[in-house]
Formats: sequence, C-alpha cells, structure tokens
Amino acid sequence: MRKVLKKLLPNSIVSKIYALKIEINFQFIKLFAKSDFLSSLYYLLFSSSFSREHRSVLKGRLAYKQTLLLVDKSSALLRRNIHRIEKGLIMQPRRDVFAEAYIGETVKCYTSAMEQTSVCTEELKWAQDVLTLYFSVVSHHGAIAKAFEDYNSECEHSALSYVPYKYKDLPPSCVTFEQLETLYKRRRSVRWFENKEVPIALLKQAVNAASLAPSACNRQPYEFYIVNESGKATALAELAMGTAGFAKNIQCTIAIVGDLSAYPAERDRHVIYIDSSLASMQLMLALETLGLATCSINWPDVEGREKAIESKLELPKHKRVIMLMAVGYAQKEGGIPFSQKKSDKLLVKEIS
Ligand SMILES: Cc1cc2nc3c(=O)[nH]c(=O)nc-3n(C[C@H](O)[C@H](O)[C@H](O)COP(=O)(O)O)c2cc1C
Repeated sequence: MRKVLKKLLPNSIVSKIYALKIEINFQFIKLFAKSDFLSSLYYLLFSSSFSREHRSVLKGRLAYKQTLLLVDKSSALLRRNIHRIEKGLIMQPRRDVFAEAYIGETVKCYTSAMEQTSVCTEELKWAQDVLTLYFSVVSHHGAIAKAFEDYNSECEHSALSYVPYKYKDLPPSCVTFEQLETLYKRRRSVRWFENKEVPIALLKQAVNAASLAPSACNRQPYEFYIVNESGKATALAELAMGTAGFAKNIQCTIAIVGDLSAYPAERDRHVIYIDSSLASMQLMLALETLGLATCSINWPDVEGREKAIESKLELPKHKRVIMLMAVGYAQKEGGIPFSQKKSDKLLVKEIS
C-alpha cells in the first residue's frame, strides 16, 4: 500500500506526509513521556522494542534461582556470596558474626556444586578456601552453626591460598603512564585486516587477561563466543548493522554475550552491559599487545537480528548479545579514522 501510494502521489506530497507523520509521532512521544505510567503504557500499546529484554530479565531470574540446586560450570549465586563473605573477612574492624542471612544458602550451593563434575575446579577451590577461613573466624551460632555442620561433613580441607591477601602483596606495576597511554593510542578501530589466520591460543591468552577486569560481585556474567574462520566470521559480523563494506575481510568475530541468570532482581539488569564492556576493553588492549587489531561492532536490539544470532549461537533467552568484535592482523596500509577525542575540558565536571 505504502509503495503504491509512493508511486501514485507526487514527491512533494509524499515528503509532506512523511514530515506530518514524524511530527505526529513526536507529539505522541511528548505526551507519553510525561510519566512513568504513560511511558509503560506506550511500550505496552505501541512498541514491542523492550519485549525481548523484559522476557530475558524474567528468564534470567528464574535461571538464577535454579542454580541454587543445579550448578553447571559456574554458579553466579556461589560467586556472589563467596565475594560477599570475602568482603566481610577484610572488614575493618571484622565482625564476629556476618553473612548469617546467606551462609546456609551458600553452603547448600557449594554442596550442590561439589556434586557436579562439570564445575570449574578453581571456582570450587575459591569457595572452599573462603568458606574454611570464614568458619574459622566467625562465632558459631544459629544459621552459622547449622551451615558449618553441613559444610564440614561435605569436604576435605586443603591449604588455603584463594583467600583475601594484603595490598602490599600485589605484584609491583611495571607500566608507566606513558607506556599505557601509548598502548591506548595504538588501540584504534581497525576495519581492514590481512588475510591471515588468528591463532586461537592468542585469543584465549587475551581472554584470560580480560577476565581480570572488575565485575559486580565478581560474577563475570559474560562469555566470548569466538568464530575464527573468515567466511563464518563475516557471516556473524554481517548480522550487525555497522559492518557494511568491511565485513568481507574480517578473519575472526567475537560475540560478547551477557548472562542475565547472574541476578536475582531486576535492579541489576544493566550489569551485564557494564561488566562485559569493562572486560571487552581489557580484551582489546590485551589483543593489541599480542599484535592483533580489533574493531567493536554495535549489536542493535532489533528483533529480526536478535532471532538470527540467537539461533546461530544457540543462545537461551536469558543470554543477550552485548556487542561483536572484529579481530585480525591489521593491513599496514589500511586507513584509520582520526576520531578526535574529547578532553578533560568537556569530560570533567568538578563538583564542590
Ligand atoms: C559499542 C561500540 C559499537 C561500535 N560499533 C561500530 C560498528 O558497528 N561499526 C564500526 O565500523 N565501528 C563501530 N565502532 C567503532 C567506533 O566507530 C570507534 O570506536 C570510534 O569511532 C572511535 O574510534 P577508535 O576506536 O579508533 O578510537 C563501535 C564502537 C563501540 C565502542
């Protein structure tokens, strides 16, 4: 219908209709933006843009609950609670009693994890060492005493090495500001790559460095789906909208995927984007030091594209693509946009 009208009507009328449509839409949005209730009504009645996100958040909350009893390779619940206990252990002054509210749940989750062969051994050791230290310093009453009984009967204790340590024990930094700044300057978005394979060992090495990034409650709710075969890497990159013209020469595409099953409540639904971004930045810098160039690729929240990538990567509903990343050896003669950067003059607001 739209195409027929476009052919029948003169161009000037078509332009006026478009302009009118945009104006009406704008007035409409102005009205519905007046309150939270009206905004929700707008998205309920006129736009399904957030529907997938709503469902993913709910599916994530359900999956979080299930990890209490059925742990796979890693448990967000266990990671979060062990992290909270570590914070209690380093508190100044340390309290005699802490973590009462969730120690039972933590030991239950730990016990369940111990029963699975698939669970990451380092994660289990971290949990075990911290729990052992915790029970050696807290007063045993009520929930803590009960949790200790369950814990004690479940495991053999080894030397404690995955436990809090002192700031002075950190390795000394051997990177100067100038060296770091040079690395930042070298990391530019590269879109033209040599036709050369990217060694998977280097990608994994960089991922291990990236995983040192901070993450909320140390949950690290992300994974790197690596497609390291030029044709397939191109096909994946083409699912995004911003790769027109250069997708064909991408050697390796990484999809950074966030996992909403790491959270029991909606308030943390944005953390997958924050944690993934922090790790992705570290990944890009790590790859740069290994001689590999990168380009971040925006992942748009467009239903058709979401469906396509969900099926390609076999993603459950609680996992969401955060962004894509092209990786490869840069063509020496390939162009780099200047991309002027804002400075402190624009970026800093001093608040008194
Ligand atoms: C989240 C994000 C999404 C991006 N998406 C695209 C994209 O789809 N296509 C593209 O060519 N570049 C993309 N870029 C690269 C930016 O254009 C680039 O980072 C910016 O222009 C600054 O240049 P620089 O990375 O060389 O400093 C993206 C960057 C980020 C951080």
